[in-house]
Amino acid sequence: IKTEKEVEGRYETVWLVVEEDSLDQWPAGPRDVVGKPAVRKSARARARGEARYTADVRLPGMLHAAILRSPYAHARVRRIDLSRALAAPGVRGAIGPGDAPELDEVAGYHGAPVAAVAADSEREARAALKLIDVDWEVLEPVLDPDEAVRRGQLVGEPRRVERGDVDAALAEADVVIESEYRTQTVLHNALETHQSVCVWEGERLVVYTSTQDIWGVRNAIARTLDLPTDQVRVVCEYMGGGFGAKNEPGHYTFVAAELARRTGRPVRCALTRREENLATGNRNATIQRLTVGARRDGTIVALAGEFVASLGWDGWMAFTAGPMHGLYACPNVRTVEYGAKLNTPPMAAFRAPGFVEGTFGLECLIDELAAKLDMDPLELRRRNYADRDPATGAPYSANQLLECYRRAEKHWARRHEVRARSEGPWRRGVGLASQIWYGGGGPPAYAWVRVGSDGRATVITAMQDIGTGTRTAMSQIAAEELGFPLDRVDVVLGDTDRGPYAVPAAGSSTTPSMGPAVRAAAADARRQILDIAAQRYERPAESLRIREGRIEASDGESWPVEEVLGLLGNAQILGTGARGPNPAGMAVHTFGVQVAEVAVDIETGEVRVERLAAIHDVGRVINPLGASSQLEGGVIQGIGHTLSEERLVDPTSGQVLTQTLDAYRMPTIADVPEIVTELVDVPDPNLTSLGAKGLGEPPIIPVAAAIANAIRDATGAAVHELPIDREEIL
Ligand code: MOS
Repeated sequence: IKTEKEVEGRYETVWLVVEEDSLDQWPAGPRDVVGKPAVRKSARARARGEARYTADVRLPGMLHAAILRSPYAHARVRRIDLSRALAAPGVRGAIGPGDAPELDEVAGYHGAPVAAVAADSEREARAALKLIDVDWEVLEPVLDPDEAVRRGQLVGEPRRVERGDVDAALAEADVVIESEYRTQTVLHNALETHQSVCVWEGERLVVYTSTQDIWGVRNAIARTLDLPTDQVRVVCEYMGGGFGAKNEPGHYTFVAAELARRTGRPVRCALTRREENLATGNRNATIQRLTVGARRDGTIVALAGEFVASLGWDGWMAFTAGPMHGLYACPNVRTVEYGAKLNTPPMAAFRAPGFVEGTFGLECLIDELAAKLDMDPLELRRRNYADRDPATGAPYSANQLLECYRRAEKHWARRHEVRARSEGPWRRGVGLASQIWYGGGGPPAYAWVRVGSDGRATVITAMQDIGTGTRTAMSQIAAEELGFPLDRVDVVLGDTDRGPYAVPAAGSSTTPSMGPAVRAAAADARRQILDIAAQRYERPAESLRIREGRIEASDGESWPVEEVLGLLGNAQILGTGARGPNPAGMAVHTFGVQVAEVAVDIETGEVRVERLAAIHDVGRVINPLGASSQLEGGVIQGIGHTLSEERLVDPTSGQVLTQTLDAYRMPTIADVPEIVTELVDVPDPNLTSLGAKGLGEPPIIPVAAAIANAIRDATGAAVHELPIDREEIL
């Protein structure tokens, strides 16, 4: 069948055979393993330094690459001379513009890659960079997004999305509010910097790389280097985060591949922290000019927005207008989005790209509307609840937003008491914001489960664990279906040569895509175990089941599963599984509400977030411990986005000023408030055999608006710009 793959609102059509799920969903609530807290499978290996990250890959004869980057935001290489660098001690190879994909003679941003060398040591490689002679022609940078739009300097076409008649609805509205919001550029800063080790084995290219998408990287490399896809192998066993910035091969991989080809040696190209902050992508800044029209009873009748996304030199346009189209039951919505092409480093996906920015604008606007109508902000949101997808009219596969609102009430009810604790210059207030996102996942996704005579099971699939605990969730699902204790299930992943196709660790799609495939594979293996047990114990297979590692018969007898598996000898059981289709004609989304409590010093403008309640509906929860950690991480990253983080660029030269973690202001543990996490944990009855959706991205989405609305509640300050700095409050 023809099926649509979706990652963060980017759709791709593929043709493949997708079979319906044959398994019924488990009943709601905790099971033997699924739904119970599980400690991360790889915790020991990670803590003891045994987990092999790309940064740990050391191959015999391996060279180290370093990249020469443009010191200018916009410049052209008139002439470049690599000869002095090539003659430097330890140097084995050097390449310049045109020698590898993305090495270009036109530098569109500060940090753009221009040339590279490979040497015996990293130190020698970096020293040699200084010996590359470049004659630069410095060009005028374009740094102002509105100016770029005026000049028509855009990445892609403007995106216009419209339903109903906005002008007519605004003309008839009782209340109309227009407001402008701005969000800043922020940086991902994964713990493990972007890096790859490339080695040619004959005609084959083997790439060890820190990536969220080994198959996507394999395809992109094959396409770019004009190789058959099966001549590229991509390996990523462990990774130290990505947040969306590691979905592509990246220039460093092409640099390593080309230098490896020229030198006949493995080549490692690992970015430094400074390079990470220059040239690996960012959440793009936005300008949002928004309008809402409503009736006096709070019914929203029109929403409109003009959005400018500062995409930098390249990138793609995330759907900043998405929340406006999907969050409320408004019949008339019109948006236009421009992607401004600027001489700044290109954007990359960053945890719920577009929706984080768009939700800040929309959910602040909704609070401004509530104030104007003198209506309770929670009540206003409830009145505009959409019981079908307002963009398409399709029913939701499941939607627990009203339940999220209901659970938010007890946190929202604290506002009187919180405000009453205002004292001296410290004013306190409470704010809330809602959230919608994708995250249903989809086919194709495959898994195998191998069971041996040792009584252990191994899940094999070529996916990657970005660091969130995917291994753990997958082993829980397999253990549950097999009836095995969790510690008897291992997971092998991260190698395109060793396992079937799996989805990227992106778009909150991993668990909802891979989970059902793993469950199906485990069910296949379980059926085979029970068939053998039926013969061995002379009972019908239907009368047998496996629980906690024992085969139990309906007549009360039971045997350890190893007894049956021991009969396998050297043979093995192999179960295979595939992800079923998404429900046809239904909208699959995740939902949530967050309630923030803040204290603001009106003399200094200092803001402290004191408490944040995050209530989310992601369908069934596989691992409550991992899930609440994801919620906490999203909230903390959101606090940074709201109050302090910002990539600063010199407004004249376009040079990036925040290149280190001491210059770039991230929240510290002292900035982290009490975080209360609640997951509704009701399986989506229409979504796969699992009923689970993804939760990586949702928790960062409503944070900024919830905090901004709390600051407004505390002080009356008009907050329109991120990060919310002291000037806005004073
Ligand atoms: Mo997406 S930000 O690549 O998970």
